[in-house]
Amino acid sequence: MFEIIKDCSPYYITFTHVGLSDYIKLLQNIANNATFVSSNNKSVSILKEIYPTYHTEEFYASSDDLEKIINKNPCSELLHLDKSAAFLTTYPGVRGPIHQDVNGLNKTNVQFRINYPVFVKDDKCITSWYEDIDLLRHSRIPIIDVSMHNPTSILSTNISPNYAVLFNTSIFHDWDNSQSDNKRTIVGMRADNNHSDMTFFDARKILFGI
Ligand SMILES: [Fe+2]
Repeated sequence: MFEIIKDCSPYYITFTHVGLSDYIKLLQNIANNATFVSSNNKSVSILKEIYPTYHTEEFYASSDDLEKIINKNPCSELLHLDKSAAFLTTYPGVRGPIHQDVNGLNKTNVQFRINYPVFVKDDKCITSWYEDIDLLRHSRIPIIDVSMHNPTSILSTNISPNYAVLFNTSIFHDWDNSQSDNKRTIVGMRADNNHSDMTFFDARKILFGI
């Protein structure tokens, strides 16, 4: 059912599955009919306070659309994906801060996400993973303050318009769209609150048997 395209564990695995291109079209249809708004996510507000140039927009799907997104996703039952999904658009010229994903409710790390490309028009938006540099963490949110130190990335890639990604969001990471003239939209799904301790490796085992 799930076929690995590239395994860069423990950072990410790109993969495909039956019906993937139709699923991406469904996501595009939903996004095309939606209005993207500034995020109401608390972590994002703090980021905008720290980095005023951080220009992203999020779109939270309606419950009907969410139903379709979750029900038609072959990973959702296996990985207990949460019945919410946020579409995130990053503007040209924007670099996101180096961060870990945090579950707003219980403040634990989001261990992994299943990310899908929605509108990815070029290969210039670079996603990177970094070592954890404790001293440089920001006190209010798990981000590395690059104004104090610009760490070298361990690994970089760009999200392909054609594949899904199992993404390790518990390792510090960022994305850099500063060299692109295009907006980039992706959607990310995480495990629900009853399964928030499921790790990247648990998800890898379930989807790919390795
Ligand atoms: Fe993230």
